[in-house]
This record gives sequence, C-alpha cells and structure tokens, in this order.
Amino acid sequence: MKYLGGIALLVALLAINIKDAQAVCGYESCPATQPNMINIHMVPHSHDDVGWLKTVDQYFYGHRSNIQHAGVQYIIDTVVAELIKDPKRRFIQVETSFFHKWWSEQSETSKQVVHKLVEEGRLEFTGGAWAMNDEAAVHYQSVVDQFTLGLKFLDDTFGTCGRPRVGWQIDPFGHSREQASIFAQMGYDGEFFARMDHNDKDKRLDDLAMEMIWDASESLSNDELFTGMLYRHYSAPPGYCFDVHCGDDPIIDTKSYDNNVKSRVDDFLSYVSAVAENYRSNHVMIPMGDDFQYEDAQVNFKNMDKLIKYVNERQSEGSTYNLFYSTPGCYLHSLHESLQSWPNKTEDFFPYGSDTNSFWTGYFTSRPTQKRFERDGNHMLQVAKQLSTLAHLTGEQQKEDLLYLRKIMGVMQHHDAITGTEKQHVSDDYDRLLYDGILGAANTARDALRELTNLPEGEFESCLQLNISVCAFTKDSADNVVVTLFNPLAHSATEYVRIPVKKESYEVTDEQGRTVASEVVPVAWQILDLDFRSNDTQHDLVFKASVDKIAHFYIKKVDSGDSDSKTLVKINGHKSEVPKRFKKVHAMQNVETYDDDDSGETVVQNSLIKLVIDNSSGRLKTIEMNGVSESVEQKFAVYETKDSGAYVFRQNGDIKEVDDDVEFSVYDGTLVKEVHQQVSEYISQVIRIYEGVNRVEFEWLVGPIPTDSDTAREIVSLFKTGISSDGVFYTDSNGREMLKRQKNKRENYDPDLGQQPTSGNYYPITSRIALEDSKKRFAVLNDRAQGGSSMQNGELEIMLHRRLIRDDGYGVGEALNEEKFGNPLIARGKLHVILNTAGSKATAAERKAEKEIHLPFAKFFSKKPSTTSTAVAKALPSFDDFPQSVHLFSLEPFSDNEILFRVENFLDHNEGNVVSFNIRPIFDSLNGLEIRETSLDGNLPLSDMKRFKFHHDGSGVRPTSVEYTYPTHKPLAADKSQDASDFSVTLNPMQIRTFIIKYE
Ligand SMILES: *[C@@H]1O[C@H](CO)[C@@H](O)[C@H](O)[C@H]1NC(C)=O
Ligand SMILES: [Zn+2]
Repeated sequence: MKYLGGIALLVALLAINIKDAQAVCGYESCPATQPNMINIHMVPHSHDDVGWLKTVDQYFYGHRSNIQHAGVQYIIDTVVAELIKDPKRRFIQVETSFFHKWWSEQSETSKQVVHKLVEEGRLEFTGGAWAMNDEAAVHYQSVVDQFTLGLKFLDDTFGTCGRPRVGWQIDPFGHSREQASIFAQMGYDGEFFARMDHNDKDKRLDDLAMEMIWDASESLSNDELFTGMLYRHYSAPPGYCFDVHCGDDPIIDTKSYDNNVKSRVDDFLSYVSAVAENYRSNHVMIPMGDDFQYEDAQVNFKNMDKLIKYVNERQSEGSTYNLFYSTPGCYLHSLHESLQSWPNKTEDFFPYGSDTNSFWTGYFTSRPTQKRFERDGNHMLQVAKQLSTLAHLTGEQQKEDLLYLRKIMGVMQHHDAITGTEKQHVSDDYDRLLYDGILGAANTARDALRELTNLPEGEFESCLQLNISVCAFTKDSADNVVVTLFNPLAHSATEYVRIPVKKESYEVTDEQGRTVASEVVPVAWQILDLDFRSNDTQHDLVFKASVDKIAHFYIKKVDSGDSDSKTLVKINGHKSEVPKRFKKVHAMQNVETYDDDDSGETVVQNSLIKLVIDNSSGRLKTIEMNGVSESVEQKFAVYETKDSGAYVFRQNGDIKEVDDDVEFSVYDGTLVKEVHQQVSEYISQVIRIYEGVNRVEFEWLVGPIPTDSDTAREIVSLFKTGISSDGVFYTDSNGREMLKRQKNKRENYDPDLGQQPTSGNYYPITSRIALEDSKKRFAVLNDRAQGGSSMQNGELEIMLHRRLIRDDGYGVGEALNEEKFGNPLIARGKLHVILNTAGSKATAAERKAEKEIHLPFAKFFSKKPSTTSTAVAKALPSFDDFPQSVHLFSLEPFSDNEILFRVENFLDHNEGNVVSFNIRPIFDSLNGLEIRETSLDGNLPLSDMKRFKFHHDGSGVRPTSVEYTYPTHKPLAADKSQDASDFSVTLNPMQIRTFIIKYE
C-alpha cells in the first residue's frame, strides 16, 4: 500500500520538482560546505550482499524472511520515492547487479524519474561494479571484467552521470594493492573501506593516518589512489540507526514529553567530534546505513532530515558543525579541495585481524572446489568471448549466453561468493548459476567453432570433469574423435593434453596428418576409487599439442600390439594395500611390484627435471632443474582446530605433519612420468613431470577429511627446502604484482601475533608464492585462490582444504562442513613447482607459467565426420607477432559492432622492458573501421580521464590550488584510412591498455 502511495506521490512531484532542475551531476552537484566549520558528510547507503545468508534472488525479492529480513527491490523502490521528495537528499547505489535487475522491472515513468535523480547527483553510483568484489581470492582478470560489466551498464543507461568516481569496498575482509591499482587505472579518484587490522587502525587513528595515498604499483607510474578508512565500520553512529531494522530512538521534536532533540543532537555531535579528532581535514564522513537497510526509506530520511535541521539550527548559537546529505564522492571532493597533505601507503592490508585471536585468513582457502570452479568459469568466459569475436557471432541467443556468464562471473567475485563465506544453500545456488553460465557459453563457443573450422557440424563438446579423467564423449571409445584445441593466449603454446580413454592403443595425428607423440597412462587408483565417478575409463591418452589459435587433433584407435603399452608401474609394496577391487585395474595397468629397498631412492627423470624419491618415507627428497639442485621435501600437514570458521583460521596448537609412511608407485613413460602417492587414508597425490615442461606438478586429492565433535582439520601442503629465506617470502596480489612478506612484520605497525602466530602470518595466494636466497629461488604456482605462508626459513605452506565443526561468529551461522554426493567434500587440485637460480629470469619464467596455468587450451570434442567437409577453416588473426611479454588480456564483443581489445605487458619493471608493436594487422583482420582508447574498464574515453591528484606528506610545499593527473601517454585514436604507424602500441612494464574497435 505504502508503496503505491509512493509512486503516486512520485509522479506528482515529478511535475513540480524536476521541471526546472539543472542537470549537474558528479562533483558539481555536491552540497555547499562551510570553510570554518566541521562539515559532516552524511552518506545514506545500504550494503546489499550479492548473496550471503540468502541467494541473490532471495535477497532481491525479499524471499525467505525466516532466514533474514532483506529485500533489495523494496530498498531501491522506497529510496527513489524518498529522494524525489527533497532535492537535498542523497543516496549511493553500489551493487550494479541488483540495480540492473531492479531497472529491468521499471516503467518508463519510473525510469525517467531515476534518470533525473542521477543527472542531479541525488542518486550517485559508487563502486558500481557488478558486485562489491572480494580482494583476496579474486584474480585481476575477473575483477576487471566485473567492473567492465557494471560500468558498461551504467554508461549505457545514464551516460557520464552514471559513472562512479569513488570505490566503495566497505565490507571485504582485507584489501589488496591490485584492487587500488585497478581503481586508478579505471580513473577512480579514490576508494573507501572499513576493515583493517585492529592494531593498524589504532595506530592510524593516533597518527591521523586513516586516509592516505596508496602507491598501488611498483611498476606503473601514475598509479596512486587516495584511500580512506571509515571510522567505525560502515554503520550509522551508535544510537542513530533510523532504519526499520533497528530499535534506536526516532527524533521527537514536537511538544511531547518525549521530546529528545537536545540529547539527540548533543550525542550526535559528541560522536562527530571524536571522529573529527582522528581525521585531518575539517570534513568528516558519517555513513548512515548497514546491511540491507532502507527497506522503508522514509523512516530513515524523515529522521535524518530532522537531525540535519536541529544540528544546523545550532549554528545561530555559534555551533561550528554543519550537517548535510552527501556522498563519498562529495566527501572526497572536499578533501581534494582542502589542499591537505596525506601519508603514504605502499603494501597492502592483509591479513585482516579483527582482534588478537581472529585473523580472517581461513577464507583464503574456504570452499576449495568452488574457488576452482570459479576459475573454470573464467576460463570458459575468456574462451567464449574470444571465439565469439573471431567468428563475429551476432545471434541473440549467443549474445545472451555470453552476457549471462559475464553476469554470473560478476556475482562470483562478490565478497561472500569467491570467499566461501556464504551459507551452504547459497553456495549451492552459486554452483547452479555458474554451471548454467558455463553451459551457455560453451554453446556460444561451439557455434563459433562451427564457423571458424572445417567442421560445420562438429559437436564441439566440452568435458567439465577432466580433472578426474571423466569425459562422456570418450567414455565408450575415443576412436575417430577430433579434439579441437583453442589457445586463449596471444602466443602459440605447447601443452600436454589428457583425454580419458580405456586401455586401448591410439594414434594421434595433427591437421597435416603427421603422427603426434602420445601414450596411454594409467589413472591413479584413488581417482578410480571415487564413488561418484563413473568408471568407464581408467586411463588417460596423453599427447603433446602445439597450437597457435585453433587446431584439430585426430584420435584413431589402432591395434595394440604389446609394443606400445610399456607401462611400467612399480610399487614399494610393503605399505597399505591397494583395495581389493583395484587388483584387476592394477593388472590392467601392468603394475609390477618391487619388494623394496627401503634404504634406497627412486629417481624419476626427464631431459629437464630430476626428482628423487626417498624409498623409505615415500616422499620427494630432491629436485634438480634449471641447473639447480635443492633438497625439497614435500609433505602434507594438518592443523587440528576447533574454533576456525569460514572466515577465520584459528589455530589451536601446532601444525602436525602427516606420517612418513607414503606408499608410492611410479609410471615411467616417455612423455610423462608420474609418482602416485598414497599419503594417508584421505590424502593422495600424483607428482608429475612432462618431457620438455619446466615445472613439477603436484596434483593433490584431499578428503573426505575426518572430524569429530572436538576436532576440525585444515590440510596444508608443505615444502621444505634448504633455501635461506630469512623469514622473507613473496605472494602475488590478485595474480599480478608480487608483494614482499616478512614473517611477523607489517608495513606500518606491530602486529599482535601472540595468540595466532600462524594464522596471523597467512596471506592470500591467488597465483604464486615464492622464496629465495642469493642463489636459488623456489616458487609454487596454484590453480585457485588459497592461503599460505612461510613459517620456517626455506619452507612454504599452502592450505588446500578445510573441514570445520563450528561457526566463527561473523554472521554466516554455519560450520564450514561441505558435503558432496552424501560425503564430506573431496577436493582435487594442482600446485606447480619451479626451482631456479634467483633473479629476474626466474620470475619472468614464473609469469609465463602463470598465464599458461590460468588460461590453458580449451578442449572441444567432436566425432570425425565420415565424409570430409568442403568447409575451409577461416583465417584467424595472429597475435603471435606480439612481443613475448604481451598478454592478450581481453578480446570480446562490446557493443553492437564494437570489440573490446586489451593488451598487457605482464613483466614487471625488474623483469621486462618497454615493448612496442603494431596492432594494424589485428585491426584489419577484425574488419576495423575505428579504434579508440579507454580507461581499463572500456567505458571512459582515455582522453577524458582526469583524476584528483593528492599531495604527499613530506614532499615539500603545499599546492595553492587543486591539482589533477592525466594519462601519461597520448591515447590512441585512429581510423581505417590512417597510416599503419598510427596503430603502434607501446606498453611499459605491467601496463595494460584497453581499446574499443568499431568494425563494419
Ligand atoms: C611519499 O611518497 C612521495 C611520492 O613517492 C614522496 O615524494 C614522499 O617523500 C613520501 N613521503 C614520505 C613521508 O615518505
Ligand atoms: Zn557484505
């Protein structure tokens, strides 16, 4: 009822209020401030999680109020109705996924009203990405994608007035430097957040250092971001939550016995004065909002109106407080104008400790299979985007399918999605959405491949369970199967491909009919043993493929002859027995049992790498590669915990190494060599080296993890080397730059690690962790986000899986105890080890490996047609001429007849150089008409990028007027008629450039 009333009123007010209003948005629409007063920027906002205790849709529609009363549609409805009543009122909208959904259900009138509100700066988009992404477990590619998506919707809908100027990362549990860098590269003027280690915060409050200038990159210039930490979480001051969810007193200002204006104003100002004391300028920002607030916005606004009225009334009696509705953008604008100087910040804000016993480092690893699935989603998204661009797909369904996966991937970046801090039913819903999204995009990829290759009727099926050697397409036979490989990287690459097959002999040929080296390798029995795995195939056909962009490989069954099935597997057979039902499999796998020489060692070696296994422990002992030999023991270890939860890893005693009683067998093939280890009842592993590949793969299988009412278990993989790392190690920031970590140390403060020495030294690992001394370097690359540390010199540990027994009290209300197929969750994944001589050559090789691991070949399966088609494969642009350090970051449909094209120099200032290349051939092969350069998100013309410049402490005289920064290079802009030399692109180390190509 109330809601209908609101709309009627809104229409009425539309006529009166909006007619003569001037369209000024952005900083020009900011409220006037008072130079000699404390200006209180009151910022109405609602924090709307894109899934957490309820699913995305449950939150949007206000469904399942028994779990949590929250309905985002009503929030936006009532906020709009309240904003229209008074031009002074302001509200920020943050999560574009919710706003987009709401918008799609609006009438034309309602849309017109919202347009006006946006054009007058009354409704201001802040943040503005699809979701408020997490900053620990996300990969930069997916963050950039989800900003591109959100900002594009805002730009398409509202133009420049819809463009957010300020980041709003108020809830993520720690903050990455790469996120700040991404904001800077998108042209944001600053960001605000609300979570920081409590010791850090206390010190910053004392030092007036809550607001700072973050130098967000070691390689990029012009990459500073103003960063502000809120005073007290993101909620309203205590006692001033005027929301229907809260019980705080309304402001009673009539002649009532309960009139409370005096005390309400007194208390509010005393809070504000405490805030003001801890910040540098005469402006303070007071957020007014919390999770899912403003569902009945008139209650909030009515009381805030009164608060403003009575606070400002005191000015006539000499009060120097000036209260008004504002936005984070307007607050930042005031700070910029204050010409103040600010402290420097260079590292990041991990880990986040909310008290001495609570470091939020568990979520770096929580829900390991979902974290991996999200990477699969990204892989399919990049592949489908590139393929659909190359094939110029224009079908509605194809576009829709691609857009759907983009949206779901945006949702997955949310700080309760990729983090694993949502309720189980919400996690299940994310899986459902992502699975649907992947299937749709796989269809788009298939359609493109039908256009691009000589198989116009190919099935091009994707097998999503290759990680456990299952593929429906080859389960009966791989005879006459065509495997089409798509390489999403710029440069041609060589990888080993594994196809699940029966124990049969196959021949693999390439498009020229040449035989490609292959072999049939037995799958570890622990994988065959998985209850939920259909046991149609027990082997993998392994072959080595080199691919520029797209290539077919043909698989044909051949008469075996015993000659090519020289599988040699040996076992130190004195340990635990292989389950009986696998005796037969073992027979098929030609297992030969060696009764052991316990004292000896087993050497597994190819032309690049030598591994030495200790026969008595069954574990890895030494690695030799890249001319370096180093003792590398790899073990599994367990933290037995009680009070850990989805967010927090809370140690309860020391790490316990799993016993040295590893049963192992060795597969000694020509292309691949594998050590299959049975480590404990619920841990096994395959250590693997491929001929010609300069890294060692550790493919782990962990679960079901046993727990009891007193004991949760968190499993880590532990590498012990002899490298004298002296407490120093390195972890990546969202898959891009590396940050130096020092055990027990932080950049600005002394951490309190008395209670949680390990958890407090954990850092997020999105792609890489490494340590080194003056001679040697040891790096571990992973396949999903995890947490890890170096607790002893020369050691690295990476947390793989966690099964917990209690909730940690931060809201999710469930113990993290995942089940799949009726059993505690089993997870599988890979760590890749590179041992090298220390130096920039080594780190550059790691970068290249990172790209290959993040974006491997996509595999598509078809039956070989009985008659050869006359269709010719289309010629594709070649990116292979790009300099070696150039990554094809994005190639995707943007608007109609527009393509977004991003390139990145992936080497940093120590590893690489400035590179130049010409993109005219690419432009031509995409039928380009015009090209323009934009901010990182693709929506802001780079020539329009103008950011606030802030003044550093200790850098000399203060400026006398406001300053701005502009892009340091001339934006590329050209059309078809221009000379090829106008299409030259230069990339500094770590630089990313984004272009929009208009085509015919
Ligand atoms: C902060 O960084 C700036 C720019 O790099 C530098 O000029 C200034 O000296 C630094 N200030 C302090 C206090 O270190
Ligand atoms: Zn949140």
